[in-house]
Amino acid sequence: MKIIVKDSAADASAAVADMLLQQIGKKQDSVLGLPTGGTPLGVYARLREAYRNGQGSYKFLTTFNLDEYIGLSSNDPESYAAYMLENLFGHVNIDISRTHVPRGSALDAETEAARYESLIAAYGGIDLMLLGLGRNAHIGFNEPGSPHNSRTRRVALTQSTLDANAAYFPAGAVQPSHAITMGIGTILECRKIVVLATGQGKADAVAASVKGPPSEDVPGSALIRHADITIVLDRAAAANLDYAQTRELEA
Ligand code: F6R
Repeated sequence: MKIIVKDSAADASAAVADMLLQQIGKKQDSVLGLPTGGTPLGVYARLREAYRNGQGSYKFLTTFNLDEYIGLSSNDPESYAAYMLENLFGHVNIDISRTHVPRGSALDAETEAARYESLIAAYGGIDLMLLGLGRNAHIGFNEPGSPHNSRTRRVALTQSTLDANAAYFPAGAVQPSHAITMGIGTILECRKIVVLATGQGKADAVAASVKGPPSEDVPGSALIRHADITIVLDRAAAANLDYAQTRELEA
């Protein structure tokens, strides 16, 4: 496990954007796994800016988003499909037919989850998975208690996740209580994993995930078993790591 601590969230986002650009520069037909939420907004802004400056081609890429709310169609402004269009896909030369987000409006969420899992396999798996980290250390929407070998499936969101994400729903909008998420087992099969966590609100989740031992109570702790994982933090998110961990860190 490699941990990189940057002075600010902006610097951490820039470092992650560089990693993604490096990946797509090295392998034009990469398969990327992508998150939504507040954390990656700075990364997507950097990627848009780089693209405007002629850096990075998305033409041959395939993407799989981590999760989607059940009950929201891709046209719904609060859906993660809409988020991706607004923050990245609508601004770069990506083939929209190769951008995949679980279908939140599917009639049967479990059937959709199985379809999604098969689709990832059909593309030969994910080369690089970018993850955020929930305040309760969830990854994707794998909440505490999720088995580390779990696959893509329908899940119920915990109250803490509902509270944390309420801010993304405008007044009057109905906030879904369930989602389809890639499983932890699905995530662990990705060839490379990059986690971005910023802000003091993530410091406990980062420390619990990095310190181990792996526990179902701390979904992020499953990641320490992965052979190629880089965790990118700002100083605030790294605040609860102790010396034994931080001496491994790169500036
Ligand atoms: C998003 C996702 C979640 C978020 C996590 C952190 O697709 O799967 O695991 O990464 O909830 O959210 P933010 O970045 O909003 O703090």
